[in-house]
Amino acid sequence: MVRTRPLKVALLGCGVVGSQVARLMTTHADDLAARVGAPVELAGVAVRRPSKARGGVAPHLVTSDAAGLVGRGDIDVVVELIGGIEPARSLIDAAFEAGASVVTANKALLAQDGPALHAAAEKHAADLYFEAAVAGAIPLLRPLRESLAGDKVNRVLGIVNGTTNFILDRMESSGAGYGEALEEATALGYAEADPTADVEGFDAAAKAAILAGIAFHTRVRLDDVHREGITEVTAADIASARKMGCTVKLLAICERAEDGRSVTARVHPAMIPLAHPLASVREAYNAVFVEADAAGQLMFYGPGAGGAPTASAVLGDLVAACRNKLSGGRGPGESAYARLPVSPMGEVVTRYHISLDVVDKPGVLAQCATVFADHGVSIDTVRQTGKDGEAQLVVVTHRAPDAALSGTVEALRRLDTVHGVASIMRVEGE
Ligand code: HSE
Repeated sequence: MVRTRPLKVALLGCGVVGSQVARLMTTHADDLAARVGAPVELAGVAVRRPSKARGGVAPHLVTSDAAGLVGRGDIDVVVELIGGIEPARSLIDAAFEAGASVVTANKALLAQDGPALHAAAEKHAADLYFEAAVAGAIPLLRPLRESLAGDKVNRVLGIVNGTTNFILDRMESSGAGYGEALEEATALGYAEADPTADVEGFDAAAKAAILAGIAFHTRVRLDDVHREGITEVTAADIASARKMGCTVKLLAICERAEDGRSVTARVHPAMIPLAHPLASVREAYNAVFVEADAAGQLMFYGPGAGGAPTASAVLGDLVAACRNKLSGGRGPGESAYARLPVSPMGEVVTRYHISLDVVDKPGVLAQCATVFADHGVSIDTVRQTGKDGEAQLVVVTHRAPDAALSGTVEALRRLDTVHGVASIMRVEGE
């Protein structure tokens, strides 16, 4: 039975994703009504420049007054697709104040202010859904929040940024350097004119904070996430990874400590074995590997960005929020009861691949090996290539705390026989 009073939706932002949300709301209107139990009506679209033509959106729905649209009193669900902190935060607050539920894709705001947003939703008995904030179309947050609510997630390891995956994939397949691969990504529309948020890992770090919070039922803020981007990754790193049977990916890694008393969250480039499922994630695709006590290993894969894929996730949330409006219920709110501390990067334990430029003479290998031993870092393999008194040492370690590795590298840099530390990369997924 479809009731007659429609549920009214305010759309804030009508860019790449917003325009697809508007399109799908129109083309799927009958199915949405049947699935929700009432028509779902686009009541208004707030944009910065209303004069710009917006195919598919009736001109009378378009306004530049986002606050007026949100506060007009009859809106059931606000879909926030503006991004950034302000005015998105104030508009979301105003939406809750006005009694609306909120669907957003705003990862930066959630990673920075998630607890306050959840508290506002709770206070007004409204929903806050944000599936599209992490990994685009891939159903990931709902499985973590709902399907795995009875399990214990121990690790989330993922490729959550398509731009950087595209660049690293191009470097891998063509042997190109970082700059050349970035140029290609920009020309093809995979990288923005200012690619900082993607290539420096900010986008992935915000997603890691959201994932870790949901997976471990605790609060993890953006500042808690260790972040390194891909700008320092060289063609030599990728060639070196190949020699080890690995590839290089920008990974978001959220882990529960072995004793279960703390968690870590980090984003950095890492080598992973070619046999690992994440190694085969090519171009701008995303994939997230989840390890849970009872479920074992799960892999979520698909398009992590783009208008229609991201709109698919938004529409799924919109249906859920509309159903709750009709039933008078609420979807799951914030679950942060575990209150686990987030440990610093120095306490993360993993393996490392270190490439050193050294003098090629008797005793240098032993001298370097002693530095590793002095810091409690055990060496797994060493490869040396040398010519004309210069050599390159490539050392792969066993698992060691990040702080011990940093101490090792500092001490190596002080040796007269070490001319430089060409690269340090963590090795994951083994
Ligand atoms: N810029 C992101 C990416 C998509 O490249 O994956 C939006 O988070």
